[in-house]
Amino acid sequence: MSETPKHVLLVEDEPLLREAVAEQLMDHGFQVEQAATGEEALDRLAEFAFDIVITDLRLPGIDGRKVIEGARELFPDIIGIVVTGYGTVKDAVEAIKGGAADFITKPFQFDELLHVLTVALEQRRLRSENAYLRSQLEERYRFEGIVGRSASMRDLFQLLETVAPTNSTILVTGETGTGKELVAKAIHHNSARRSHRFVALNCSAIPETLLEAELFGHVRGAFTGAVGTRMGRLEQAHKGTLFLDEVGTMSMALQMKLLRVLQEREFERVGDVHSMKVDVRVIAATNSDLSRMVAGGAFREDLFYRLNVIPVHLPPLRERKEDIPLLVHHFLQKLGQELLPPKPGPLSVSQEGMRRLMSYGWPGNIRQLENTLERAVALSGARTQIELSDLPQEIQAAAEIAGPAPFLLPDEGCDFDEFITTVEHDLILRSLEKTKGNKGQAAKLLNLKRTTLVEKLKRLEARGKSVWRQ
Ligand SMILES: Nc1ncnc2c1ncn2[C@@H]1O[C@H](COP(=O)(O)OP(=O)(O)OP(=O)(O)O)[C@@H](O)[C@H]1O
Ligand SMILES: [Mg+2]
Repeated sequence: MSETPKHVLLVEDEPLLREAVAEQLMDHGFQVEQAATGEEALDRLAEFAFDIVITDLRLPGIDGRKVIEGARELFPDIIGIVVTGYGTVKDAVEAIKGGAADFITKPFQFDELLHVLTVALEQRRLRSENAYLRSQLEERYRFEGIVGRSASMRDLFQLLETVAPTNSTILVTGETGTGKELVAKAIHHNSARRSHRFVALNCSAIPETLLEAELFGHVRGAFTGAVGTRMGRLEQAHKGTLFLDEVGTMSMALQMKLLRVLQEREFERVGDVHSMKVDVRVIAATNSDLSRMVAGGAFREDLFYRLNVIPVHLPPLRERKEDIPLLVHHFLQKLGQELLPPKPGPLSVSQEGMRRLMSYGWPGNIRQLENTLERAVALSGARTQIELSDLPQEIQAAAEIAGPAPFLLPDEGCDFDEFITTVEHDLILRSLEKTKGNKGQAAKLLNLKRTTLVEKLKRLEARGKSVWRQ
């Protein structure tokens, strides 16, 4: 075999047969992972992008056909081969209709399997590097560069498709790095305004005193240093889209002026007596809880309702872990194209590495994932596969703690409350360790309010659990 080794997932409930086939495949240069059940196979597939899945058709529980369907759902260009017993050829044909590339019947000679694999791999190569299937993947699981397959992301794509072409004001909320700006751009590019400008203004990046002039522009002599007349971002966005990032940091006075723009599409440049009309669509974004700010008097209620016509919420990455393999694939593909010198083959992450990536909590969300991969690719040197050791310490170490781990229920059962308390205790301790005892930051890591964390700590202490001491 040429190129990089192909990754095979071998699904067979008969251990002796499985071992024998695996060994021969490895002798022929394949990388092989084994699974004894369909359930196990789907778990593996959710963690790693295999090239090929070879599965027995008859398996206890989830059968081979379902395995192939599940695999292709995740990775449309995966090669599925089914192995059937005597008398189940009809089922194998059904499996092919469901997306398997080919089938072989038991008992078989290894050469037969090898032949089927070679043909399937060649066919796949001929499909011009999967351009067609990849574009299908792109269509199904992305919207303008926004990648995701989780239910929440699919709902988001649907919402975006509906609202993008309208003129409605949109409020995008989500933690840092969840893709708020990306979503705003996607909306613009899918609206009739796409041929005009997308103008972004980060309200928190500009000192309060300059923000007004930045937004509305100013006339000559409006203030010290205003030597000429300048167009503001609002005017620059005429007929296009104005993206107001971190809108929660705007002063009350400016909020009032923004409200007027939204209501009347009218404004004045700073220092000007004449009003100007402008045709813009406003998309605002924030990572603070604006409704809470309204309740606390820090944000105008009327402006909140004007902005929140269509709320778009982006869930944090830790709440949609199944998007991680797809995002990793997406970023590695992107990074691979930019690499100088180029690597000898497509980039991937070892199964172990992927597991850690999927169990980490990602406080910096997708931006952090992207940066982590960029760093890992740099550290991986000439290798095309990213290994565990290429990942930052905290991701290697945090593997077992963040996110719901798959717990096994012992045959004799367990005490529910005790178990949950232990998990709670463990998570809180580790978050405090990580933040060196800073309760505010620890609470943020766990997506809890600080007061909730403090309360939990008190309760744990009352139950005799040790808590963090600085
Ligand atoms: N679903 C996604 N698919 C692919 N890339 C994504 C996705 N979401 C975010 N990204 C990428 O992650 C990075 C961060 O996204 P973006 O800047 O839009 O986040 P943000 O929510 O605006 O963050 P902040 O609150 O820190 O400003 C960008 O490089 C963006 O392209
Ligand atoms: Mg942003």
